[in-house]
Amino acid sequence: MKRCLSILLTLLLALSSASVVLADGPDGPPDTPFRDIHSSDWFYADVVTAFNAGLINGKAPGEFAPNDLLTYAEAAKLAACMRQLHDGVSFTPQNDVGMWYEPYVTYCKAAGILWADYPWNQPATRAGYMEIFASALPDTALAPINEIADGAIPDLGALSEWTKNAVYKLYRAGIVQGTGDDHACQPYDSIRRCEVAAILTRMMDPAKRISFTMTAPEHRIETISGVTYVDGILIANKTYSLPADYAPGGLTTECQTALDALMAGAARDGLSIYPISTYRSYEYQAGLYERYAARDGYAEADRYSARPGHSEHQTGLAIDVNSLDYDFAYTPEGIWLAAHCAEYGFILRYPEGKESVTGYRYEPWHIRYLGREIAEEVTASGLTLEEYLGITSVYAD
Ligand code: DAL
Ligand code: ZN
Repeated sequence: MKRCLSILLTLLLALSSASVVLADGPDGPPDTPFRDIHSSDWFYADVVTAFNAGLINGKAPGEFAPNDLLTYAEAAKLAACMRQLHDGVSFTPQNDVGMWYEPYVTYCKAAGILWADYPWNQPATRAGYMEIFASALPDTALAPINEIADGAIPDLGALSEWTKNAVYKLYRAGIVQGTGDDHACQPYDSIRRCEVAAILTRMMDPAKRISFTMTAPEHRIETISGVTYVDGILIANKTYSLPADYAPGGLTTECQTALDALMAGAARDGLSIYPISTYRSYEYQAGLYERYAARDGYAEADRYSARPGHSEHQTGLAIDVNSLDYDFAYTPEGIWLAAHCAEYGFILRYPEGKESVTGYRYEPWHIRYLGREIAEEVTASGLTLEEYLGITSVYAD
């Protein structure tokens, strides 16, 4: 706990050495006192550097606990130590009373590192530790080295602008690079202590930072409260599900208004178009799907009935009209619907011959509300919504 007093010199030494010599002796790796760290571990050099710099300690004598999750309290302590090292000043925590981390929290608040209280003993989320680390050093010490386009990090969803800015700052400074080909941040996941060691060395040693670029994606996929939006369009298909409690309870007002206008337009042409199925709750869809599966088997049911959580009817933006009969397509109403629904903001969602793309057989009766501009654009493109948005419709299992 008092390591912050003496770490500046050791950190400088550790960071200025070109590399850490790694060789296990008969008693284990020579560079740390930890039994649970091995020189073959990918994080070994980072743990050695961070430990020698006094930035991170063991959890118990002889144990680093590399897979333990970082808590918010530990994140605050690390942030305080990093700032001290950067500023070249020492810090003696006065923690005779209260929780061990309180002096660090107080220090961080005074230094403008922390702006809020966190559930200190809980594992930090990735977004949470990034909020703290992004303020741990002055901006000049976290200068951007990477071109990361706005909107390029794919999964920041409903995070606040402040949190997003913190994440972008660390990506742009080369401190974190996310996971996988798309550099996903996984903001709600926790972070293991071994991963933190690597972050710390990058924070304190610019030579260790990672260079990469991220361009803005052609299509922006966001998940907000479990609901997926692609370029702002709510999607429910086999790939993207809705939470069970996503329950608008009926057609959205906009969709209902558009449906009323469509029915009135058809009536003006002497035709009768009327809804036979509109909003369906998660529970209702579950029962429907099970009944179809009992009748036709699951594989066949999957071709025409969505599993619960995957039906567009749960969005309040989809309607089946007139008849669930393929011949509907050849009736005057079916022909009118295909020709005019886009004028009212709807598309025929499951066109003929596109089962491999939409995931469902042809449904000449199922329309999806998108608003007039997008519906007309999708219809004119001749593409399914999946093709238009560059997404798939495939169950994970
Ligand atoms: N019939 C469509 C695919 C649904 O069940 O939502
Ligand atoms: Zn339908």
